[in-house]
Amino acid sequence: MRDRSPRRVVVGPGALGCLLATTLCRTSKEIWVLDHDSQRAALLQHSGLTLERADRLEHFPIQATADARQIGPVSLVLLCVKAPALPGALPSLLPLLTENTLLLAWQNGIGHLPLLMEAGLPCPVALAVTSLGANLAGPGRVRFGGEGATSLGFLGEASPQARLALEETATILRRAGLEMRVEADILAQVWNKLLVNVGINALTAIYNCENGGLLRNEEALALLQAAVLEAASVAQAKGIALAPEPVTRAIEVCRATADNISSMLQDVRNKRQTEIMAINGAVLEEAGRLGIPVPVNTELVAAVRELTKGSLSG
Ligand code: PAF
Repeated sequence: MRDRSPRRVVVGPGALGCLLATTLCRTSKEIWVLDHDSQRAALLQHSGLTLERADRLEHFPIQATADARQIGPVSLVLLCVKAPALPGALPSLLPLLTENTLLLAWQNGIGHLPLLMEAGLPCPVALAVTSLGANLAGPGRVRFGGEGATSLGFLGEASPQARLALEETATILRRAGLEMRVEADILAQVWNKLLVNVGINALTAIYNCENGGLLRNEEALALLQAAVLEAASVAQAKGIALAPEPVTRAIEVCRATADNISSMLQDVRNKRQTEIMAINGAVLEEAGRLGIPVPVNTELVAAVRELTKGSLSG
């Protein structure tokens, strides 16, 4: 018989991780946060998480640790560390994982997918592709940044048990108030989201503006359109079944998350490593393999790398 522990873990208390943890806390009791930073884990264990939404503040007590052995095997892991932190994070998750665990990976971009799929983890791995907006206002304090649907799915084959676990997870997150869809072709969703991030993230970092600011800036808007169209031509050449009108979709996400500070701008402001290589950088790589010119994405990668040169906090 399956041993489904009620414990669920959010790995990485960044903006999205905190938003998901507070969301899960509404309907479930045994929610943990795993953080590589033991000092911050101790702070979260002591002070809990705070969600700012409209003018309301909600507080959620939480269990937090930097040592996965303290948690042990769980039924669900929401892996919310940024793509560049994945190589370091994956080995530290092993005490959480059994064949009955479902690991759901929430990173932006595509650059990390081979690592995730080839890591040889003992549990099924599914992807979550979200347009939710969230900003970190301080350790454990998250500001809701805009509604957005989330798609879940497996990249390759998955057992009936794993599929059931994914359906259960979608139900849990729906019950907690999120819009969730289980998708047969998650790779198409990954690319649809990639195109949104290609259009928004680097440009908000370069122009140092909220997502909505791109819509009020003619130059930025033209670059957004060009970058998304370049990435769409790469996706088409790869045979990805993209949703129609990718530029319109990127603009709609900008509008829906207008007040949100994109994850890349948050990283630049906090002197953290950005996801530029998993997003526009990954488009460059794919385009290079296919011989497709992507000058605007090349320019955006160079500009973001220039912005963060010599300023990373480690
Ligand atoms: O990375 C982000 O910030 C988000 O994916 C999105 C949807 C662009 C909203 O800010």
